[in-house]
Amino acid sequence: MKIIVTGGAGFIGANYIFYHLSEHPEDVVICLDKLTYAGNLHTLAPVMERDNFRFVKADICDREAVTGLFEAERPDIVLNFAAESHVDRSIDDPSVFLQTNIIGTAVLMDACRRFGNVRFHQVSTDEVYGDLPLDKPEMMFTEHSPIHCSSPYSSSKASADLLVQAYHRTYGLPVTISRCSNNYGPYQFPEKLIPLMIANALNDKPLPVYGAGLNVRDWLYVEDHCRAIDLIARQGRIGEIYNIGGHNEMRNIDIVKQIVSELGKSEELITFVTDRKGHDLRYAIDPTKISQELGWLPKTMFKDGIQKTIRWYLEHRSWWEDIISGAYRVDQPIG
Ligand code: NAD
Ligand code: DAU
Repeated sequence: MKIIVTGGAGFIGANYIFYHLSEHPEDVVICLDKLTYAGNLHTLAPVMERDNFRFVKADICDREAVTGLFEAERPDIVLNFAAESHVDRSIDDPSVFLQTNIIGTAVLMDACRRFGNVRFHQVSTDEVYGDLPLDKPEMMFTEHSPIHCSSPYSSSKASADLLVQAYHRTYGLPVTISRCSNNYGPYQFPEKLIPLMIANALNDKPLPVYGAGLNVRDWLYVEDHCRAIDLIARQGRIGEIYNIGGHNEMRNIDIVKQIVSELGKSEELITFVTDRKGHDLRYAIDPTKISQELGWLPKTMFKDGIQKTIRWYLEHRSWWEDIISGAYRVDQPIG
């Protein structure tokens, strides 16, 4: 099979490419990525020389470039990871989120239609369901929960999901959608909670916790997300949405304290700062559908995953220090 992975120079896309090439070495994987600030070609160094891997620098919104790539490669499946992914940036400036996350998704699906109704998987997010109250632990997001967005980021992802469903209904495009909870693991850009706290703690810098740190996220080790996407793309039912999550809800403050403790640093580094605007209180995924239909269950427990992740950031200091210093951009100008 020949697969186009968009956004493969980012956190989850790169982890997916490593997973895919190791699980399906007979497949050809083509990574299409614009190399925005979040894309990092150094991350893909371990696979760059492989015969069955190719990297193409392009914008998913660039219809000509996308069409040309489909014409040349004739893919069997497209997995769309490419997105603007950081909620805080979407609050500062929504426009690029609308462009990439909505228009880019439509451009890719138009190419899928034009070149033989190519199977299309949209990597979406649990944030499209909005948030849950803190005092109702029995409530969880199912695939039938209403779309109820809080940020420009989540609204742009929800808009893309609606378009994906419309392309299925109107044009018969064979699509699937996955909505996953918060990921953590190697190669996550140090603007997101866990890598930011690890990097700042290692540099003895303040650890900025929004509000009182009581917001809850449902954390999943990135490799478990990758395995779920691979299963859905191969065995998921066309036209369906699958929630992905591992029943691992934690308060932000508890995560930060655990990182501080694992690194032997002082809790005095923790600094409570102004809350995020519209800050979602709690996310919690009900993964019954993917577990029952596809037999997916998470393999990595948080207590192991967080230690593996911290060890990875300790052993790959140059990867994230180059991002913080901007050195990762020297040989790859921002796309
Ligand atoms: P990321 O920000 O780390 O990576 C995004 C990648 O997309 C980068 O390589 C970037 O260069 C590329 N990209 C951005 N705009 C592009 C464009 N116009 N054309 C081509 N490439 C472009 O993101 P991530 O955390 O790896 O998230 C990947 C996907 O998973 C996103 O769709 C996100 O919404 C979704 N998701 C993320 C999480 C999470 O916890 N990180 C959870 C659920 C779903
Ligand atoms: O739920 C899936 C989503 O998870 C994905 O769709 C997004 O792409 C991904 O970025 C993530 O969104 P969050 O907003 O939940 O992740 P973030 O790491 O930005 O923040 C996690 C929590 O930590 C959130 O409650 C805000 C808080 N936070 C974050 C940062 C960056 C802080 O308290 N301090 C910080 O400095």
